[in-house]
Parts: sequence; structure tokens; C-alpha cells
Amino acid sequence: RHLAPRATPLAGRHALVTAGPTHEPIDPVRYLANRSSGRQGYEIAGALAALGARVTLVSGPVDLPAPPGVALRRVETASQMLAACRDALPADIAVCAAAVADWRVAQEATRKIKKAQGAPPPVLALVPNPDILAELSTPGPDRPALVVGFAAETDSVAQHAAAKRARKGCDWIVANDVRPETGIMGGMENEVILITADGAEQWPRMDKRAVATHLAGRIAAFFTAQRS
Ligand code: CTP
Ligand code: CA
Repeated sequence: RHLAPRATPLAGRHALVTAGPTHEPIDPVRYLANRSSGRQGYEIAGALAALGARVTLVSGPVDLPAPPGVALRRVETASQMLAACRDALPADIAVCAAAVADWRVAQEATRKIKKAQGAPPPVLALVPNPDILAELSTPGPDRPALVVGFAAETDSVAQHAAAKRARKGCDWIVANDVRPETGIMGGMENEVILITADGAEQWPRMDKRAVATHLAGRIAAFFTAQRS
């Protein structure tokens, strides 16, 4: 049987990665957003490319360069992120690392909202954003063979993440504890639990590049096992 060269186990595979926050405009000068440095998603995109995958990285607004060999599509809002993901399909692998804003303002103001003397502050009506991970996980001809989501939690991390995996219909969830005292949000390190159909696996704390390398290795192993 022919074996692919060891260094490029993902050759011929297309990976779609989302990363960064989304910005949901309120008016021309203001927006709603999630906290996200984009680092973990960019590292994953780079690690998948390093294993030979063709990688499309759909990224919200962050100030990071495209990793080597990665096609970067920059977007601002969740709706634009979903459209860019649909555009990128078909893909063999989807990794949703973006911190997508769960809501957007129902009616974006076309002109700057001004403070009027004595007037009460504006009340923003919100509507839900599309769930990109849930859509990519939906069974159908375009569903990637392996869909990986993230879960940033502050309590009962493994339990919430396992519930999220079931709810979204994705194959794996990379869960992490983002309580401020862990220093993970915005930091260079991550400590994750990988949730698969087989259960939960606690990985040691390591830098975000190492988490990405390990995850890309697991993804490559998934496809190698499928082939044999
Ligand atoms: N996600 C997504 N689109 C959304 C919201 C989330 O693709 N509109 C993805 C994220 O990229 C992540 C996963 O879903 O991979 C989990 O995101 P998270 O915010 O933890 O889950 P939610 O379902 O939004 O639940 P909650 O925020 O209430 O915990
Ligand atoms: Ca959310």
C-alpha cells in the first residue's frame, strides 16, 4: 500500500479554520465584540498547512499575519464569516476557533448615535447570529469529514463542553477554562480538554503553538486511520 510522505499526511486535504472575534456594528463608530486574540486559531491553521493541508483561514479582525501557506480571508461580522465559510466549502476538515458574537444589533444605525442633552442612553435590540459551527456540523453532502469546535468555559468545563459537542453536532470539542486567573485569554499558553466520542482527555498546559501541533497531529491520525 502506498504511504504518503511522513511530513505531509494531510496532502490533498482542504482544511477550513475560523479564528478571531467578530465585530458587530452598532453605528459607524461602535461595535459589539468578543474577546479573542486569534492566536490559537492562527496556530492551528499554520500547523495544518505544515502537515500538507490546503488551508483556508477565515478570520475576524485581529492584527496577526497569515501563517505560511495559508489562504487568509478577512471578515468583520458573523454573517460575513458564515458566507466566507460557505464559499470555502467543500472541506475535509473544519476547525471553528473563532469567538463569534452570539448576537448582533437588530438595526445598525447608518449615522453615529449622538448623546442628546438629558436623553436616556439608547437601548440596543439584539438578534441572534448564525451558528457557523452548528451549520458546518449539519449532516449533508458538504459536511466536512471532521468538524472540530471550541468551548471557552468558566465553570464545569468538561461537562459544558460535552453538552456543547452534542448540541452542535460536531465531532470533537477543544475545551478550555477561560477564567481570568488562568491567564489563557490573551496569553501565549493554553490548557485544553479534548472531547471526542470516546470521552474527555486532559492535555497538559503548553504554549498555543504546541496545542496546535498536537491537534493537527490528531487530525492527521484521524485521516490516516480512515484510509487503512
Ligand atoms: N460558534 C460559531 N458560531 C456562533 C457561535 C459559536 O461557529 N455563532 C462556534 C465557536 O467558534 C466555537 C463553538 O461554536 O467553536 C462554541 O462557541 P461558544 O461560544 O463556546 O458556544 P455557544 O454555543 O455560543 O454557547 P455559549 O456562548 O452560550 O456558551
Ligand atoms: Ca457563544
